[in-house]
Amino acid sequence: MTSTILVRGARQLLTLRGPAEPRRGYAMNDLAVIEDGAVLIRDGVIVCVGPSRRLENLAEARHAREIDAAGRVVMPGFVDSHTHLVCGPPRLDEYELRLAGASYEEIVRSGGGIFSSVRAVRAASTQRLELQARHILKSFIRHGTTTLGAKSGYGLDETGELRILRATAVLDGDPLDVIPSYFGAHAVPPEFAGRADDYIEWICSHMMPLIRKRRLARLVDIRCEQGGFTVEQARRYLYYARELGFLPRIHTEQYSNSGAVRLAVELGAVSADHLERIGPDDILVLADSTTIATLMPGVTFHLGLSRFGPGRALIDAGAAVALATDFNPGTSPTCNMQMILSLACTRMHMTPAEAITAATINGAHALGCAERLGSLEPGKQADLVFFDAKDYREISYHFGVNLVAMVMKRGLALYRQGEVRWGAD
Ligand code: NIG
Ligand code: FE
Repeated sequence: MTSTILVRGARQLLTLRGPAEPRRGYAMNDLAVIEDGAVLIRDGVIVCVGPSRRLENLAEARHAREIDAAGRVVMPGFVDSHTHLVCGPPRLDEYELRLAGASYEEIVRSGGGIFSSVRAVRAASTQRLELQARHILKSFIRHGTTTLGAKSGYGLDETGELRILRATAVLDGDPLDVIPSYFGAHAVPPEFAGRADDYIEWICSHMMPLIRKRRLARLVDIRCEQGGFTVEQARRYLYYARELGFLPRIHTEQYSNSGAVRLAVELGAVSADHLERIGPDDILVLADSTTIATLMPGVTFHLGLSRFGPGRALIDAGAAVALATDFNPGTSPTCNMQMILSLACTRMHMTPAEAITAATINGAHALGCAERLGSLEPGKQADLVFFDAKDYREISYHFGVNLVAMVMKRGLALYRQGEVRWGAD
């Protein structure tokens, strides 16, 4: 039986409708807002978007189940394009060490950092990893995220990486879209210590063909960074990935300026992520390309650093910017995209509208799924988030606060805000 839903009465309906390409430069300010907006949904797919008064009169809307948005702000669910969803438990001891003055690099040198999580993931069963990830997914839902990019990279060996990617495959579609990315080149594993080239060779000849054959990921990443891989290794890895039909992404310019942005552009990478240390010339190169600049200010915040990604300069140069949490237990343990928007506005000088575009439609482009996600347009999935706000600028203004009143995925209400049993509204 067909299920038809009419969401009506949104004070501001942010549709983000527009061209099929990523939004870049000043176009990121256009949220295509409909005042007193409505969305007609059939079987989880958007049929029509417009003013409530017009949609209420459509023949199909007359028999629809009605959801009153009650004067709230309604927009597409967040698309968090860069997370490490399957990652094992929090690393609280390292957190305290950092608070006491140890640097992230010192912790890594003493065998912690990424390797703490690698040990935990290798020791866990698939079931345990899936359970941990489901718990985290619930927090993402409560904060308004309806689609995630999930990287592997805490297994590194064959068993560990396949376990993460299999757990991700089980989670995908139940209920969120969870889009996997193979991130074997996150770090050189202990088995290959001092032999990074051999590790890349093994990935190219063994792991990538295996992952491709089993269809466990379409996206492939590498960490091209001090303490990660060199530009030459990244070149070999990503060219090979592209040859096999993967969409390349690159984690770069976080702690050092490697120049890998040019490689990303040369390869037509879908996204270059981090970029805190990108230089002014590379900003122009990136702005003139199809590669999305994905910024993750939660990392700078959590590590207590001072250098945020150059959001303003990238947008002024005409780049397409996406925002993501980089959810991971070492450098950004948050599921809250609203907080990421607050940091993007106050620390990277993005406008509230640019931040919303970066966290929805541009995130969808960074995952290669913008044809069905990231905006409210006919034919797209009905992934909606309702905010307890009258103006969309409140979403980034009230920092550290969860304003989400309701979350809908494919037309299904997944979450409703709890009630405070006191006073009147
Ligand atoms: O490289 N963003 C990706 N990975 C993080 C890993 C953080 C960690 O587990 O400590 C990074 O900084
Ligand atoms: Fe990351």
